[in-house]
Amino acid sequence: MMSDQQYQSKQDKWEASVKKTLERFPERKDPFTTSSDLTVDRLYHPDDDETYEEKLGFPGEYPYTRGIQPTMYRSRLWTMRQYAGFGSAEETNQRFRYLLDQGQTGLSVAFDLPTQIGYDSDDVMAEGEVGKVGVAIDSLHDMEQLLDRIPLDKVSTSMTINAPASVLLCMYLAVGEKQGVPLEKLTGTIQNDILKEYIARGTYIYPPKPSMRLITNIFEFCQQYVPKFNTISISGYHIREAGSTAVQEVAFTIANGMAYVDAALAAGLDIDAFAPRLAFFFNAHNNFFEEVAKFRAARRIWARIMKEYYQAENPKSWKLRFHTQTGGSTLTAQQPDNNVVRVTMQALAAVLGGTQSLHTNSRDEALSLPTEDSARIALRTQQIMAHESGVADTVDPLGGSYYVESLTDRIEEDVNNYLDQIRDIGGAVKAVEEGYMQREIQRTAYETQKKIEQEEEIIVGLNQYKLDEEVNPDLLKVDEALEAAQINSLTATRSKRDQEPVDRSLAALREQARNPDANLIPYILDAVRVYATVGEICHVLRDEFGEYTGI
Ligand code: 3HC
Repeated sequence: MMSDQQYQSKQDKWEASVKKTLERFPERKDPFTTSSDLTVDRLYHPDDDETYEEKLGFPGEYPYTRGIQPTMYRSRLWTMRQYAGFGSAEETNQRFRYLLDQGQTGLSVAFDLPTQIGYDSDDVMAEGEVGKVGVAIDSLHDMEQLLDRIPLDKVSTSMTINAPASVLLCMYLAVGEKQGVPLEKLTGTIQNDILKEYIARGTYIYPPKPSMRLITNIFEFCQQYVPKFNTISISGYHIREAGSTAVQEVAFTIANGMAYVDAALAAGLDIDAFAPRLAFFFNAHNNFFEEVAKFRAARRIWARIMKEYYQAENPKSWKLRFHTQTGGSTLTAQQPDNNVVRVTMQALAAVLGGTQSLHTNSRDEALSLPTEDSARIALRTQQIMAHESGVADTVDPLGGSYYVESLTDRIEEDVNNYLDQIRDIGGAVKAVEEGYMQREIQRTAYETQKKIEQEEEIIVGLNQYKLDEEVNPDLLKVDEALEAAQINSLTATRSKRDQEPVDRSLAALREQARNPDANLIPYILDAVRVYATVGEICHVLRDEFGEYTGI
């Protein structure tokens, strides 16, 4: 039982951290009030409660259940970071600058599949996919076009890239160098999470061992040269999109996170040097209160694992910082405008769950990549929530709710049961190789689909409240001529570059790939600087590491 003075001292400690935070991040308003002019306090909590401190704690204090920052959105709103990318680098650059002009506060790059799987646009494997589901990036030339007139010392950029993450990261660093931005000033995130690719998404290239080597090479290189860059975005989003439950999403993501920590420790890295730059990425699905509780439980679980199991000492190593994307698989092709309502509720769950960064899906994304209008409505959804709803004006407003706290506790318990099972198998890498997580997800996905088909689970417009006739909205079309134009551009880049340094850098990379103790990032950076392509670099590593053929 905590004494009143112990509780008071915890509150005093929190007040002191608030004061320190306000020096760097003064609150957005003073005071915050409701429409009836009622003052909105920074935080609401019991006067004294023996479990409060142990299970919830103050925001910005271990175990961070109520949020990782002392003042959360009162000081700084979540980053509005819309995933975008299609066609050529020039087209995507236009969309990026449009979204930034419309008020988004972070960039998020979607790459096409050839780029994601390490093929150049003129590779036979790329045929028909160039620029389709994301932007085509073959060389540093394309990356320069992609980031044209975007100040990398001011804008943080997330890149959804995994197997070739090292290559695209180096291209980003090289563009920063060309803009005159010192590496240590560059901010952003590289997804760099190969385990969920084996489990759910599929854009892997190499077997687990060399893949984990490249991932920890990025940890090591960035902690030394690019300290403000988040080196991985450990993703539950795609696991949920593959059909998992909320509990499985958190459990498998955290299990993967532990595997990356273990790999980094095995590579000789210091936990408090790399862990502060581990980041996470979750889904926001339809069951509102379960999603809010899921985020709060995930923060508490990760904090306890990092502090108690791994004995990390830096509080920044204990904080689970995450991005959220609203659930793509919940969007319906039917009555697409209904999706604006779904996305709004999912985004609200992410905000009340304390997300650091948010992407809101566009209403037409069950049908195609979003039009400019749809992408703008998706961004406006966040801006209305931030500025008109009041939900960002006090910290963790659902904290203390009997339902939310009970759900948070139950999700934590079920996640820990899964983590015990995965530990008994031998950890996440072993569990992936044995197909354990995949089978769990497939079972859940099948059961969910049956409920929808039997109308036990109602999806408005899909299995009930249907229209006799659907009106097809205007959709974005990717110009079929793009593939040929991209190939021409790539051919021109190859003919203009000096081939000798390209050959030399690729030979050096090949030699170092054979040395398991070598950090390959400097060699990849050398290669991209002389315009070696994604495919050329990935093919060297395919030769040396082999390709993963899946379970
Ligand atoms: N008080 C004090 N400090 C605060 C604060 C507050 N209230 N709010 C923010 N800050 C500080 C932070 O500490 C940080 O400073 P630091 O870097 O020195 O610590 C700075 O302000 C920026 O804040 P955040 O780091 O919270 O916000 P970011 O947006 O920069 O980073 C992140 C968020 C989750 C850590 C990061 O990893 C990120 O941006 N992730 C995005 C990932 C993403 O967009 N993924 C999309 C994938 S799409 C996909 O895969 C789906 C497709 O396949 C379909």
